[in-house]
Amino acid sequence: MSPTARRLSSIEEMVDARADFARRSRAVGLVATMGALHDGHRSLIERAAATCDEVVVSIFVNPLQFGNADDLRHYPRQIERDLEIASQSGATVVFTPTEEEMFPSGPPAVTVDPGPYATLLEGGSRPGHMRGVATIVAKLFNITRPDRTFFGEKDFEQLTLVRHLVSDLGFGLEVIAMPIVREVDGLAMSSRNARLSEAERIQATVLHRALRRGARIIEEGCRDLGELEREMATVVAREPEVALDYATARMSDDLSVPIRLEGSLRLLIAATVGPVRLIDNLAVER
Ligand code: PAJ
Repeated sequence: MSPTARRLSSIEEMVDARADFARRSRAVGLVATMGALHDGHRSLIERAAATCDEVVVSIFVNPLQFGNADDLRHYPRQIERDLEIASQSGATVVFTPTEEEMFPSGPPAVTVDPGPYATLLEGGSRPGHMRGVATIVAKLFNITRPDRTFFGEKDFEQLTLVRHLVSDLGFGLEVIAMPIVREVDGLAMSSRNARLSEAERIQATVLHRALRRGARIIEEGCRDLGELEREMATVVAREPEVALDYATARMSDDLSVPIRLEGSLRLLIAATVGPVRLIDNLAVER
């Protein structure tokens, strides 16, 4: 039995706990989440526990990053189970502020500008999303002051944004990237998968299949972005119920558009399956 993590719901309690860790020279890791924890989150928490003395898992369904009120309302919430999973995985503190605690006067007047990341792939499809992420992540960093923070490659643009947020604004902490955890059939784990029907759950594997097809044609010599995008879109089109948003490639380091498909690339895809929008990505070295 792993010891139960301490649940703290006020900013003041969290700041006090952090000050106590500092007095005792405890290295602090932060895993920021929106809850409905699964094995993807678990891998981040376990890595944090392996490398830090104290592991703070924040659970906050951040309204600033949802453009769609419906998506926010339907976002899965399961706090008791999350506390158990976080504790089992090595969290020592679970920070669960309410919306009123984080934003007592309503949406914040001052926010963090995500710069070019506002309008890339996810940012382009979800106006305001990246600003909402940058703002909440900066606030969580300020409250928990981690030495290290752990983010999944599942949200690859978010990871890139956070790396730049930390270096550009001098947060002075280390960002650790963790690989995507998948179901056995290749579907990337996501809290949103819980909303898929049985049929949609099967259709959803097409995202990973399209990425693999893209990786294969690059292996086979394709160097043209347009051709790659068409091939991946053709794979998705075989699932008529799945609406493709984008399927493309970017340079891994700065998400710029590759002139030729060479170097360190990331294939990225987003599609809507039934009620949910899913994203996935795959690294390709050429
Ligand atoms: P959430 O979707 O809960 O994800 C929290 C962290 O878990 C992110 O770093 C995400 O990339 C990682 N993650 C999710 N699914 C994963 C998987 N299958 N494999 C590996 N890592 C995975 O991302 C957010 O929350 C929010 O935007 C947040 C950063 C908390 C800001 O509100």
